[in-house]
Amino acid sequence: MKKRLFLFTPVLALSLSSCGIGNHHDISEYIAKEINYKSNFRILQLTDVHLADKDDQNLQFKFMDLTINDAHPDMIIVTGDLFTIASKSTAKRLFSYLDSKNVPWTVTFGNHDEQCFFSVDWMTSYLNNYGSNCVFKDIQDDDVHGNANFAINLKKDGKTFEQLIIMDTNRYDFGHGFGYDHVKDNQIKWYESLVDYTTTANGGLTESLMFYHIPLPEIDNAWDEAHNADGTTNVHYQYGEKREKTCPPDYNSGFFDKIVAKGSTKAMFFGHDHINDFRVEYKGVVFSYGIKATDRLYNDKDMIGGQVIILHDDHSLSYEQIRHNYKEVL
Ligand SMILES: [Fe+2]
Repeated sequence: MKKRLFLFTPVLALSLSSCGIGNHHDISEYIAKEINYKSNFRILQLTDVHLADKDDQNLQFKFMDLTINDAHPDMIIVTGDLFTIASKSTAKRLFSYLDSKNVPWTVTFGNHDEQCFFSVDWMTSYLNNYGSNCVFKDIQDDDVHGNANFAINLKKDGKTFEQLIIMDTNRYDFGHGFGYDHVKDNQIKWYESLVDYTTTANGGLTESLMFYHIPLPEIDNAWDEAHNADGTTNVHYQYGEKREKTCPPDYNSGFFDKIVAKGSTKAMFFGHDHINDFRVEYKGVVFSYGIKATDRLYNDKDMIGGQVIILHDDHSLSYEQIRHNYKEVL
């Protein structure tokens, strides 16, 4: 999201140290859950909820109901910036709301999720122990940076049909001027290990979809080249509008090159830039913004709702963009 909306709070400063460095865990421990795949599996991506203590939360839940009711999801994934200036009770209310939809749900975190009256570590621990329909799992004492690095396997006929990879693109980076953080080297190694492990365990390269918050640095090249593509390359414009400058990290840690080299991940879904809603295929990988879920922080009134990602039996994807207006709930 836009740098001009950055808020520096004491809570943020205290939570900058949150990451688990120090212990190695077996890669198989990062499979949070196995869920049965069914034909035309519908994943609702919500993003940038930014729920705050001061909000009319019932109104926000009523609004999100419009999107969720339209989506008929088999699963809900929220791609970060869940909260801004929120207390634990607000966090618990949103998680309880998501859980009430009676489908598996999970989240990753955004840069604003540390600007609250709790730490991201607290939220991680709370979700790790949530149970019920929550399928979140982060190993907190590991040597993988961030608070949401795990996978969910969609199973069919005893094998992993598709892997959903949840990653934490972290928060701010004060080491390269002032900007957004990047995916760390130990996360890239973790991703590589996960793909290798799944390839072996599943008897072959397994397709995956990835969910995170901050777009990777290649987002601008992806957009620009897709608009200049002549149809002869693996770069294609698919859908949507770019209404604001993208805000990826300044530093490129090489994660996208690794993703292309591994050949597993076919599409990536993220948020962060509230009024960008586009999808392009770049070097064989789809970059896709979600649609902002609420009108909290900056937004365009005609670009609020959610995106449904529909996974088909042949591994192809189709999409439904759901948009609603607050006039429907006021
Ligand atoms: Fe945001």
